Amino acid sequence: MNTEKLIDKMNEALGWELRAINMYAHYSANIRGIHRLQLSPMFKGEVDESLVHADTIRNAIIKLGGVSVTERHSEPILHTLDYTEMIRESLKTEEQAAKVYGTLMEMLEEFDDKDLYDTVEQIYLAEVRSVEELRLLIE
Ligand SMILES: [Fe+2]
Repeated sequence: MNTEKLIDKMNEALGWELRAINMYAHYSANIRGIHRLQLSPMFKGEVDESLVHADTIRNAIIKLGGVSVTERHSEPILHTLDYTEMIRESLKTEEQAAKVYGTLMEMLEEFDDKDLYDTVEQIYLAEVRSVEELRLLIE
């Protein structure tokens, strides 16, 4: 496995995490009405989780000799006050993150770094859990 390609994919994941931090902070602050009670802390929790994921993947990029991105992924963040839309947007983001980390795991199967594989797997599983939780909220 080509280290440069791996670093590019990790940077893509980092870009999604940076975007997730902004999106969830925005929704946590904007949510109104009775759902604010539960969803504002849930979105805040996703901010914190994304910060941890971003830190982890950034450190891994640097350890591999790469340069970590400073800009978030360019996919627009939808402003809405409708909580179902917020959840749908969250689901899309988590599905995207799970996809990127899934690809990263496939790439890492051919890369001799068990610690990195385990680290990425932990994040991947967290994203899959988020996808499942969000699906339960809208289905
Ligand atoms: Fe994440």
